[in-house]
Amino acid sequence: MSADPATEAARRRTFAIISHPDAGKTTLTEGLLLAGGAIHLAGEVAARGQARRTKSDWMKIERERGISVSSSVMMFEHQGLVFNLLDTPGHEDFSEDTYRTLTAADSAIMVLDAAKGIEPQTLKLFEVCRLRDIPITTFINKMDREALDPFELLDEIHSKLAMDTAPMYWPAASGQRFAGMLDLSTEEFVPFRRLEHGEEGFAVEDRQKRGTNSYLHNVTDDVRKELEETAELAREGLPKFDLTAFREGHLTPVYFGSALRRFGVLELLAGLAANAPPPRPLKATVKGTETEVAPGRADVTGFIFKIQANMDPKHRDRVGFFRISSGKFQRGMTLKTAAGKGFNVHNPLMFMAQEREIADEAFPGDVIGIPSHGGLRVGDSLSQSGEVVFQGIPNFAPEILKRVRVRDPLKQKHLRKALESLGEEGVTQVFKPVQGGDLVVGAVGALQFDVLDERMKAEYGLDVVFETSPYQAARWVSADARADLDAFIDKSQSQMAEDVDGSPVYLGKSAWEIGYVQEKNPKVRFSDTKERA
Ligand code: G4P
Repeated sequence: MSADPATEAARRRTFAIISHPDAGKTTLTEGLLLAGGAIHLAGEVAARGQARRTKSDWMKIERERGISVSSSVMMFEHQGLVFNLLDTPGHEDFSEDTYRTLTAADSAIMVLDAAKGIEPQTLKLFEVCRLRDIPITTFINKMDREALDPFELLDEIHSKLAMDTAPMYWPAASGQRFAGMLDLSTEEFVPFRRLEHGEEGFAVEDRQKRGTNSYLHNVTDDVRKELEETAELAREGLPKFDLTAFREGHLTPVYFGSALRRFGVLELLAGLAANAPPPRPLKATVKGTETEVAPGRADVTGFIFKIQANMDPKHRDRVGFFRISSGKFQRGMTLKTAAGKGFNVHNPLMFMAQEREIADEAFPGDVIGIPSHGGLRVGDSLSQSGEVVFQGIPNFAPEILKRVRVRDPLKQKHLRKALESLGEEGVTQVFKPVQGGDLVVGAVGALQFDVLDERMKAEYGLDVVFETSPYQAARWVSADARADLDAFIDKSQSQMAEDVDGSPVYLGKSAWEIGYVQEKNPKVRFSDTKERA
């Protein structure tokens, strides 16, 4: 069947889930895959993984190389649409990776714990979504437990995230009294039934239409009264769903449910199908001219948003996760970076959560894994023509900086190479002070140093020591006039460094100092993100 990229793009929904640890992201992911028919029984992911491994090439590659790629992107079809669920690493210390994944998503689901509301990590991730104008759908989870008042939750979203909230459903109580939810647009009640012990799947009950005998018939008087009053208040006092406001990031549709009890998940998925955006045109530079690349463009284009390296030290293979932005990708195609480096993609890895033959083609919104022996970098734009450069994926300023030294002084060169290689992968950032001295390594979270330490030993045979560095903050510096930048670099030599690309970075001793230096040098821009060309 021949399919054109614009039509295929229109039926793609590529999304990520953001949440604070423990809010229920993993459980919801499983619920969505189950709802989408991608897996059949909860908890079956691993078992079926084994079965699939014998069937498809890429799974074999995955097993042989010992990397877990399938969990990073899950593709499933539902109601004639193709969903690509991008997994974002859960631990807060890996947030930089999460940030990058969000650049490859067209929308996000924000999962909140109904008893906790907005937590610090939610806020941080939300800010990244806002930076990219990614529309957000809210799922208020764990309604089967005692929850905060729904008005309070919505008010918190409104005040902390400066976004209108449009409830699509309204819950009937919570915790032990949780009875279900009212569809605010159709006036149908969706009753909640607790799954029986050992029961898997969805406890789907018939919707009860207002005005019929069955309406709220199983609901106790106090819960009914509460629901009728609060739903009325919600309907009158809260904004109605507006597609444009949602797509522009000013309004979030709000769903309620329990991922664990598989309640509200089908409704959430239906909401994504109806309203979440398909791939949109992206800003890019084509042959030096700024333009937008629409999904229907014939040239296959896209960018690498993540690199996963093989954990096996004998093979330094890497898989670059390539988000397709336009065109119809076919197996065997050659894709080029703007610098002219070509990658012949013979063995694209496809990430299905469903039993299916290896797909030989992919469309805008899809993610394929490109195996390579290095040379690919996070943020690289690739295209058939080699002419397209997307606005890069940001590198975030590290929040922790340490000096790194190798115990064996003869291995200094190795250290640099290993750090640069891990830097390419985005595990960490490496800065070389211009006046010499120990390299400075930056990470967004403390756990990244442990990972780094372990990988340096296992993969490069290097025993390293991290020491406190006098610096607390790093900022990429730039200026409109080269002379202004040069003058600044010149007088700040002792605190200047270069990143892996040779871009100038100012290392500050404190956030305060950076503020001060910034004030004294108004012509210089200090940026805590660096967009790769
Ligand atoms: P995360 O990926 O966001 O970190 O959260 P995860 O899904 O792992 O869920 C965190 C905990 O919350 C898990 O419990 C999970 O079972 C529970 N949970 C998720 N959704 C719901 C829900 O709708 N209702 C209730 N009551 N609990 C929910 P755990 O005890 O940490 O793990 P487990 O032993 O249950 O696996």
